[in-house]
Amino acid sequence: MRIVVGVGGGIAAYKACSLVRKFTETGHDVRVIPTESALQFVGKATFEALSGNPVHTGVFADVPEVPHVRIGQEADLVVIAPATADLMARAASGRADDLLTATLLTARCPVVFAPAMHTEMWEHPATIANVATLRAHGSTVMEPASGRLTGADTGPGRLPEPEEIFALASLLLERSDALPRDLEGRRVVVSAGGTREPLDPVRFLGNRSSGKQGYAMARVAAQRGAQVTLIAGNTIGLEPPAAVEVVHVTTAEQMGTAVDKHSVGADAVIMAAAVADFRPVNVAAAKIKKGAHEPNSIELTKNRDILAGLVQARRDGQLGGLAIVGFAAETGDEHGDVLTHARAKLARKGCDLLVVNAVGEGKAFEVDNNDGWLLGADGTEQSLDHGSKALLASRVLDALGPLLR
Ligand code: CTP
Repeated sequence: MRIVVGVGGGIAAYKACSLVRKFTETGHDVRVIPTESALQFVGKATFEALSGNPVHTGVFADVPEVPHVRIGQEADLVVIAPATADLMARAASGRADDLLTATLLTARCPVVFAPAMHTEMWEHPATIANVATLRAHGSTVMEPASGRLTGADTGPGRLPEPEEIFALASLLLERSDALPRDLEGRRVVVSAGGTREPLDPVRFLGNRSSGKQGYAMARVAAQRGAQVTLIAGNTIGLEPPAAVEVVHVTTAEQMGTAVDKHSVGADAVIMAAAVADFRPVNVAAAKIKKGAHEPNSIELTKNRDILAGLVQARRDGQLGGLAIVGFAAETGDEHGDVLTHARAKLARKGCDLLVVNAVGEGKAFEVDNNDGWLLGADGTEQSLDHGSKALLASRVLDALGPLLR
């Protein structure tokens, strides 16, 4: 695919280098178009070496090639990272005073802006209006991350990490449309990752969930405008998604407490976590040693079912019209195939939607891609095509939208 990476003049321009790399490493043809001020931060030679293509900022280079028209027309995706307040203002008003803004005017493909600026600039009414205009024109303007900005400031306005921009850009290539802002004003709780049930201070019972699917759910929901709380179990090495509040927990009990607390007043809960069904009855205070008191078996007790508890609380009228989404990882066995087990699980759990993944043989767990089925309490069944975990998340959210009260 032909990808244009536009780079605005901000300190985060150095992160555009990693983004360019990700696109070239995944086989895309990348053209980098910096603004003149971006070159104050990163040299032209760096972008040329990383992309393998010439880099210009103005419209008067290679004039016979008419690049200010051609690059935009031929692009499959344009990603602007970092998108500064000034660059978004120029893009929103349709200026064409450099190669990047001219390219934006001729592009008919999906366009993503990844903003980076100081919090005051992000929250200024002029920027808010420009972001609204760009979205109304069909562009996707990402929510920025919160955290350390240049200098001592912290707050929303930080460039989302290159992995996150790449994930969202790839999602737009897969979807081939802009990301809807259909979850604005909604509160969504997502659980992710596996829980760990301690045996002693160094050992635990765990599972193979990496948290990637739950993180993708949280990320895509936030970028569709939702206020998202992510209850994360074991998710080592995953970057917190931009504009998402992350609550870290370890055990199933802690996850249950956090989910219950944050579901009050929420519009939807998505239980993507792999919650342990059992925990050891006895947790040793000190490390279990070889020798005299070697345990030869581990006695287990059942953990409560968080999802079933939510459904029951809703039935009891405690959670309003909360929409509830469950996940099922199934292998199929002598009693039935994956879908037979999944249909029974949906009926048993009583949630509104059940995302079904066939697991085993390297599928679903730990990998970056996924597929499966989406079963609705109303009897609808939809297959979820193979693609990134962000694509699967996006399809689930497409189905969730109409269920929100
Ligand atoms: N779940 C939960 N609390 C538990 C166990 C599971 O909330 N103690 C949720 C998971 O987050 C998931 C759904 O229930 O959304 C299904 O999980 P799964 O482990 O497949 O279901 P189980 O009821 O444990 O069924 P199985 O007998 O297949 O283990």
